[in-house]
Amino acid sequence: MTIKEIQEEILRLKKETDTCILAHAYQSREIVEIADYMGDSYGLSLKAAQTDAKNVMMCGVRFMAESVKMLAPEKRVYLPNPHAGCPMADQMDKALVEGLRAHYPGYTVVAYINTTAEVKSVCDVCVTSSSAVEIIRNIPNKDILFIPDCNLGDYIAKQLPDKNFKLVQGGCPTHIRANARTVAKTRAEYPGALLLVHPECLPEVVASADFVGSTTAIMDYAIQSDHTDFIIGTENSIVSHLQYQRPDKNFYPLTGDLICQNMKITTLPDVLRCLQGRGGEEIVMEESLRLLAKRPIDEMIRLSQPGK
Ligand code: 13P
Ligand code: SF4
Repeated sequence: MTIKEIQEEILRLKKETDTCILAHAYQSREIVEIADYMGDSYGLSLKAAQTDAKNVMMCGVRFMAESVKMLAPEKRVYLPNPHAGCPMADQMDKALVEGLRAHYPGYTVVAYINTTAEVKSVCDVCVTSSSAVEIIRNIPNKDILFIPDCNLGDYIAKQLPDKNFKLVQGGCPTHIRANARTVAKTRAEYPGALLLVHPECLPEVVASADFVGSTTAIMDYAIQSDHTDFIIGTENSIVSHLQYQRPDKNFYPLTGDLICQNMKITTLPDVLRCLQGRGGEEIVMEESLRLLAKRPIDEMIRLSQPGK
């Protein structure tokens, strides 16, 4: 089958099975084209709660499918490729977080959404890259223990100097592949281009950026800006999505190494096989775990609303 034929069959089956397909922005172009919604982690979690469809397929990584299940328990939620995990989410388990809690009593434990349901179940508040600064500013407690990404944590801590942050060693193995040398080399290659980076990058990269934001924020900035040339410091799918959306502008990867193999493991045939009931995995979660893990996500949504 050609890519076009597979896409047409997916669109037909999607209607027939009442399935909403959500795609993280790091998915490939051919998957984004058949999705009902593409976005960053925060946008996806809102869409998951809003969709009327009976079934939801999450094209992304496991923690994203788990978040959908937590927010929409009445729906059947599928991960089209069961091997799509997030190495950052797998860096911490429940016992480690409980140990940290005991070590830092009185701290509010804030978890990046890139964590497992088990880890979320012992945290106080969740954040995504797009909402982190605003949400943590709204937490009354001054003492914040932030897990698991120390680079995102460092970025947030610099925006909120009145808070007292404890960070742990963890982070995204993809985003840390760019460093100050990469920035100098790529800026020299494309003088005049603006550098837009994700806060999962190393602090030395974030410090040299013209704009820092989530995947959706980077895309919106590049599309709306009067500038024409941009160096993109996040997973390289964003470079190709932007180039499709704005062929009149120029987008360059900060480095060719910014590719998340876990995001790329899901293929168009995986999506088709999952819709046909021949592949993928349905996310099943104990109700007691779901309720505990959902609490910090509910807190995230509450703290992101004006007036809280
Ligand atoms: P956002 O979707 O919040 O931009 O995060 C990027 C990421 O690394 C997701 O795994
Ligand atoms: Fe995890 Fe990083 Fe890949 Fe996102 S880009 S899924 S944080 S490894």
